[in-house]
Amino acid sequence: MMIAPSVLSSDFSKLGDEVKRMDACGADWIHLDVMDGHFVPNLTFGAPVIKAVRPFTDKPFDVHLMIDEPLRYLPDFLEAGADIISFHIESQSNAAETIAAIKAGGAKAAVALKPGTPVEEVFPYLDDLYMVLVMTVEPGFGGQSFMIDMMEKVRALKAKKPELLVQVDGGIHLGTISTAAKAGVDVCVAGTSVFKPSDAKQAIEDLKAAAESI
Ligand code: DX5
Ligand code: ZN
Repeated sequence: MMIAPSVLSSDFSKLGDEVKRMDACGADWIHLDVMDGHFVPNLTFGAPVIKAVRPFTDKPFDVHLMIDEPLRYLPDFLEAGADIISFHIESQSNAAETIAAIKAGGAKAAVALKPGTPVEEVFPYLDDLYMVLVMTVEPGFGGQSFMIDMMEKVRALKAKKPELLVQVDGGIHLGTISTAAKAGVDVCVAGTSVFKPSDAKQAIEDLKAAAESI
């Protein structure tokens, strides 16, 4: 199980150091939540902030775009150093065009699904995708409860394309990660459960151990 700590739960006053700390603590990827106050009822940061913290680690930057028009802003995120870009199927951008633009820009393409969106909506794009992000909370905020019903989507995706990476985001902690692992999840985003404990290295190790113990 790969762990992608979400810097949404980090200390924003020292974001570069937090990224560096997650690298040292064993993060596989760094998850960066971009919110525009339209697609979700919250605002975070955009491409300039991602670009500013890019030099603090060599680990892959996993950029989760919770914005209305991902295609419009894609060049900025590619230029900022995003390695994996997830955009929402519910956004206003054409999915096929957005996937093509991510790949043409040299990044890996992923589509994210809100809890209320049927998994079948991403089926037409699976051949072109590196990953599907199954949201296990309503996007917008950290610290919410894991929606176990979403594991049905994970199983459906793995049955259709076993080599596709499936990521879950929201409510992952020691009590939920084994459920995700059992369903076939490859990458877990974790905000609160990594940043709240004083020892993030231990927290990441414990999450991985819990996932492996199934
Ligand atoms: C929510 C974000 C998540 C969030 C997860 O919209 O996409 O990445 O940071 O936070 P936790 O792990 O606290 O549920
Ligand atoms: Zn996220």
